[in-house]
Amino acid sequence: MADMDAFTDLLDPDMCVVTAAAGGERAGCLVGFASQCSMRPVRFVVWLSKVNRTYEVARAAEFLAVHLLTPEQFDLAALFGGETGDEVDKFTRTRWTRGHGGTLVLEDAYAWFVGGVEQRIDGGDHVGFVLDPVRSGARGGPDGRPLLRLSDALAIEPGHPVD
Ligand SMILES: Cc1cc2nc3c(=O)[nH]c(=O)nc-3n(C[C@H](O)[C@H](O)[C@H](O)COP(=O)(O)O)c2cc1C
Repeated sequence: MADMDAFTDLLDPDMCVVTAAAGGERAGCLVGFASQCSMRPVRFVVWLSKVNRTYEVARAAEFLAVHLLTPEQFDLAALFGGETGDEVDKFTRTRWTRGHGGTLVLEDAYAWFVGGVEQRIDGGDHVGFVLDPVRSGARGGPDGRPLLRLSDALAIEPGHPVD
């Protein structure tokens, strides 16, 4: 098997927070595995670990909300990446509002969209949720403002054990 660290260690993706609500449950986690995956039609995929609480809720969700943060929002990233919904309700510690399809939209996010779950792809220990965007919002424009990236979030220890 190839040593992928020499490759993946070079990557520094923008981080996002993915939230899910279904069956009276709510969850959300910090995600580094995410990208646009189609232009026409526009599609965006987020990859959720099968062990995370967020995955359990997202499995039953019709829509997910995806949020971008700025480096100043490290605390919000640490809440969603460093705590697990198995133990705490993250939504009592941050401001949010109901969005399209019953989604949970984080009010302090720099930008966000809500997407319908079009398909799920088993990628190994993560499942890709391919999203069809239906609503979006942003606090600012594409003004070159830096987003919170993986290199900003390395101090966060994942809140959910990997196995
Ligand atoms: C830098 C960083 C990147 C992460 N990337 C992902 C990811 O791409 N997908 C994922 O499902 N979890 C990812 N996680 C892990 C979850 O955010 C973390 O385990 C979280 O506490 C899970 O919360 P939950 O159990 O409430 O869903 C990442 C965590 C960190 C710190």
